[in-house]
Amino acid sequence: MTGQTRRLRAGLIGLGAMGRNHARILSTLDGVDFAGSVDPAGDPRRSAYGAPVFAELDELLAAGVDYAVVACPTSLHESVGLRLAENGVCALIEKPLAGTVEAAARLVEAFESRGLVAGVGHIERFNPALQSLRERLEAGELGDIYQVVTRRQGPFPNRIADVGVVKDLATHDIDLTSWVTGSGYATVSARTVQKSGREHEDMVAVVASLDDGTMVSHLVNWLSPLKERFTAVTGALGCFVADTLTADLTFYSNGAASNEWEALRTFSGVTSGDMIRYAILRREPLLVEHERFRDAVDGKPSEIVTLRQGLRNVEVSAAILESAERGLTVTVGEPAVNAKGAAQ
Ligand SMILES: NC(=O)c1ccc[n+]([C@@H]2O[C@H](COP(=O)([O-])OP(=O)(O)OC[C@H]3O[C@@H](n4cnc5c(N)ncnc54)[C@H](O)[C@@H]3O)[C@@H](O)[C@H]2O)c1
Repeated sequence: MTGQTRRLRAGLIGLGAMGRNHARILSTLDGVDFAGSVDPAGDPRRSAYGAPVFAELDELLAAGVDYAVVACPTSLHESVGLRLAENGVCALIEKPLAGTVEAAARLVEAFESRGLVAGVGHIERFNPALQSLRERLEAGELGDIYQVVTRRQGPFPNRIADVGVVKDLATHDIDLTSWVTGSGYATVSARTVQKSGREHEDMVAVVASLDDGTMVSHLVNWLSPLKERFTAVTGALGCFVADTLTADLTFYSNGAASNEWEALRTFSGVTSGDMIRYAILRREPLLVEHERFRDAVDGKPSEIVTLRQGLRNVEVSAAILESAERGLTVTVGEPAVNAKGAAQ
């Protein structure tokens, strides 16, 4: 039960690897009628997940939708998103929000100026391991936070590579790091390599500082036969490790820092303490992302990833690429859109 007063009609643009997952969820989402997908490549059955497949966006718009999920290649997010905004359609746009900072900023303006609900598919925020990690950090279970380390490695996915690994994959790490810590990026320093003969970088190493002084490192690539999705947050009281492939969260406590405040005030070192693996209720992150977005379109209070947050992630990824190109540490600039509301 969603408590909705009316059913919503939703569409999908891009029926590829990720789009098919969105179609599966949209076709069964409570309170939503799946109006159809748009993909110029079509579908041999001319329908997918019980709804028609159109060749043109105009056909979906003519069918009438309250909102649409944008899961076509990243370089098309801007043109598709702008057309949805012009037609008064709310949008959940896959990450990264766009291929450039300028395109991402234009999308923010287009949806905000019309008062349309819009979000970005930074799905890691809906991973149960990271949700539990964030709650525990907010509750102070780690004390002072020193460092965030992420590794996101694996083979190249068999699909269009219109952006490199920094914008495609590292934006997950950028988003989750600022979300779990509640702090933005201050500076970045990065190296990239390009080994597979494609147009863009396929491996990156990043060292960054957050606004609150937390140090960060990200290792992200498409060149490893080992697939891992690893996030470790280390602080005065120990270390949390989240595996977002298995949705596991483990705490390694610092045996030298007992929970007594006296010990915390005179931090004297680290020893291995107890290790706890938390039992977490595992709901599918994509389903939770869709439920939150549907509720936001329905006018209910709901936490979604805003376009401004998506823009900020694109800005950090652009700073990473600039650092790698120039061999310098880059200060992450002021947000590109300075309209009303807090920029992220
Ligand atoms: N959130 C995540 O974890 C996640 C995972 C994978 C991909 N993505 C994002 O989803 C988007 C799509 O990635 P993918 O892996 O599904 O790519 P893909 O290449 O598998 O699919 C893209 C689809 O878009 C279609 N398309 C091309 N031009 C179109 C147009 N003008 N209108 C409508 N459809 C069009 C293609 O025919 C193809 O079917 C990218 O932005 C990617 O970054 C997000």
